[in-house]
Amino acid sequence: MHLNSNLFSPLRLPNGISLPNRLVKAAMEENLSNENLEPNRSLWNLYEVWAKGGVGTLITGNVMVDHRAMTGPGGVVLEEGTSLDGFKTWAETVKSNGAKIIMQINHPGRQILAKLGGNVWAPSAISVDLGNLSKLLGKPKAMDESEILETIQRFVTTAKLAENSGFDGVEIHAAHGYLISQFLSPLVNQRTDKWGGSLENRSRFLLEVIQSIRKSVSPNFIVSVKMNSSDFQKGGFPFEDAIEVIKKIQPLGVDFIEISGGNYEAPAMQGVSRDGSTLAREAYFLDFARQITKIATVPIMVTGGISRIQIAETVLESGVSLVGMATALALNPNLPNDWKEDRNPIVKLPLPNWKSKALAGLATMAMVRYQLQRLAKKKSPKVKIYPWFRLLSDQLRLFRLTKRYRRWMENSKF
Ligand SMILES: Cc1cc2nc3c(=O)[nH]c(=O)nc-3n(C[C@H](O)[C@H](O)[C@H](O)COP(=O)(O)O)c2cc1C
Repeated sequence: MHLNSNLFSPLRLPNGISLPNRLVKAAMEENLSNENLEPNRSLWNLYEVWAKGGVGTLITGNVMVDHRAMTGPGGVVLEEGTSLDGFKTWAETVKSNGAKIIMQINHPGRQILAKLGGNVWAPSAISVDLGNLSKLLGKPKAMDESEILETIQRFVTTAKLAENSGFDGVEIHAAHGYLISQFLSPLVNQRTDKWGGSLENRSRFLLEVIQSIRKSVSPNFIVSVKMNSSDFQKGGFPFEDAIEVIKKIQPLGVDFIEISGGNYEAPAMQGVSRDGSTLAREAYFLDFARQITKIATVPIMVTGGISRIQIAETVLESGVSLVGMATALALNPNLPNDWKEDRNPIVKLPLPNWKSKALAGLATMAMVRYQLQRLAKKKSPKVKIYPWFRLLSDQLRLFRLTKRYRRWMENSKF
């Protein structure tokens, strides 16, 4: 055990609840729901493996607040009318192993695959620009006032249902180019009403979601936010705006803020920037997080590119309170226990060095998702894999899940 390491010390949050240690499993959409978009054995197994691996807090993959708007097929939905049974088991599985479980709640906005269909809502009717892959995404419609208010209410309902199911808290997904981050971005939000224009107006949606959730849940229920440090696009949401938004949200009863970056157009969360700024090779957003800690009154968490204990310790030494890891825990769910017992295994994916960065990004996601599927079957991770093969089988699997979702939508009771 690294005697000097604070990684395994608890963290007391502003609401008085303590997280067991500083290591957090960051959100990864699992695409493992049952045909009714609910969690079942696959998800329970996966989270049991992680909880037993020593990570103190587990943030779920994004759970949708509206079944008509999915970030991906095989996703989980929690809304009025959803059966809570599978959610209760999900939460209990983690808590009975001594870890905390926080549900990430999200609405994709305009980042919806065209094949999936549903309500492609956005602040303004501006499509995602993915070059010649742009057609893969749906054509957005600008939301009207009642759709905005309905969606805010949906975030509140999902948070309340998460609490009723035994979750320790929620994380509001305001990063990665999904709906809330679209409201924040001047590139996507060109509204002229009170929801767009000035930063005050662009951040209104996020502020309303936080305030309304905080009012509806108990004080010891954790409310956290995942935010972009920047979206790393010219004319987009810059770091200076992120600082101002953080100043606005921290007095609202937020228990921690996770720092990430990027969106589908500029996937900084995979270590890529599109505005010429440089990201670190490991802990991509640490420089930003370090600056944020100077104005922070709530704990800060940073996620992206962390897989070595030395880097995790550097993160804490910088004044950041929580270390988020996604890929590393998919490749080795036992990593926290390994670190605790002085083992430092290095597990790496065979990252594809392809000309098409978009395809390479998709293949990397496919390889990580494959590990989640293996863990969900209680198999160990397998990194000796061919990226092309994984990309193709992942696409096939997602295609089947897309058909299943469309069938479900046609027969849906809603
Ligand atoms: C398969 C996969 C699914 C992801 N799904 C989500 C998600 O649902 N919500 C989210 O905020 N981030 C999601 N992410 C991003 C991660 O939370 C994280 O920000 C990113 O992978 C960088 O961290 P890492 O280098 O430790 O993987 C996902 C990442 C991967 C690889």
